[in-house]
Amino acid sequence: MSTNSPFRLLHVGLGNRGRMWSEVMDKRSDVVPSGYVDVSPERLALFEESHLGVPIFTELSMALAETQSDAVLLVTPPDGHLDQARLVFGAGLPLLSEKPLTLDMAEGVEIVRMAADANLPLMVGLNFRYLPVSRKIKEMVSQETVGAPGFGLFAYLRNRDGMQPWLNKYPLTMQHPMMLEQSIHHLDLIRYCYGREVEKVSCRTWNPSWSMYRHDANVSCLLTLEGGLEVNYIGTWTGGWNQMQFQWRTDCADGVIVQRQLFEDLAYARTKDEALTDIALPDFKAFYDDTDALLTSFISHVRTGSELECSGLDHLRTLGLCFAAIESSETGKAVIMDEFYARHDIGS
Ligand SMILES: NC(=O)c1ccc[n+]([C@@H]2O[C@H](COP(=O)([O-])OP(=O)(O)OC[C@H]3O[C@@H](n4cnc5c(N)ncnc54)[C@H](O)[C@@H]3O)[C@@H](O)[C@H]2O)c1
Repeated sequence: MSTNSPFRLLHVGLGNRGRMWSEVMDKRSDVVPSGYVDVSPERLALFEESHLGVPIFTELSMALAETQSDAVLLVTPPDGHLDQARLVFGAGLPLLSEKPLTLDMAEGVEIVRMAADANLPLMVGLNFRYLPVSRKIKEMVSQETVGAPGFGLFAYLRNRDGMQPWLNKYPLTMQHPMMLEQSIHHLDLIRYCYGREVEKVSCRTWNPSWSMYRHDANVSCLLTLEGGLEVNYIGTWTGGWNQMQFQWRTDCADGVIVQRQLFEDLAYARTKDEALTDIALPDFKAFYDDTDALLTSFISHVRTGSELECSGLDHLRTLGLCFAAIESSETGKAVIMDEFYARHDIGS
């Protein structure tokens, strides 16, 4: 594969998130769709109209056989990822899969093992790691800009109307929609930005009486991270107010770092400061520019062997944290992550 020719990505899944991915790819001259795959002929027809000449398929196996691709992008609901990943690795192609990798721990471990056995890259779409605000928090924590971090509060309070036509519908009926579709990003950011692993999790998940979701739309966790960093996490898709409220505050020995809005708005204060000081961040379009950066990183790995970021193996630690939290909620006991990872054969 010449590094001058466009990277050929077989795009599987053309729903809500698939449309965003397509917009990201359309803006680039170094990436082309080698084909579109979706089980829905209506969705394929929409893409066919706007992308003349790109072949369309209702079956992944057919698309793998009939296109020349450098990698596969999987933007399908997670319950199909295991079978799809098996086909992709069977065809000898690298895989960039949307999160969550699976809805089952053993299936996630199996996909990562398949990638390792085939010696093929597997990246998972943790795009929010690429937001400038996430990068800046990571930098400030690692450089101890306001001292060593001691504890954090992460609150994501949203009333998400899952009936909106542009939103995916399977979260309305799946088990643990909040944890596996949304909190997974937040728990991943906590691991990523703090640059340390979770040692212990206590959790409660539940579903408020007015929830439109069939299963738990609320998650509350107490996380103990390496070095004694304690984090309180609360997330809901079923808040009592349509206005989104978000705060991620990290208390450190000499001050605080506060993200005041989802995806942006970072500030800090030293202990005796009377007010927070804003931190300038570059303009950024969330869901797009972060996805673009993730894609750049993936292509770079496939083409040049640069570091594989958001690897499947790394994702198992975040996915594992989600399932450990669910286990904690079910048993009423804290879960020690090393024990959980060992029980599920998850290495580092
Ligand atoms: N990283 C992010 O910021 C982000 C944001 C939204 C969604 N997502 C993730 O993206 C994935 C897809 O979510 P969505 O919102 O696009 O869902 P969606 O339901 O809107 O779209 C899924 C698409 O996959 C198609 N599909 C289903 N089974 C298929 C199969 N076997 N083969 C081919 N196509 C198939 C469906 O017809 C549909 O068009 C999920 O894993 C979700 O968690 C990630």
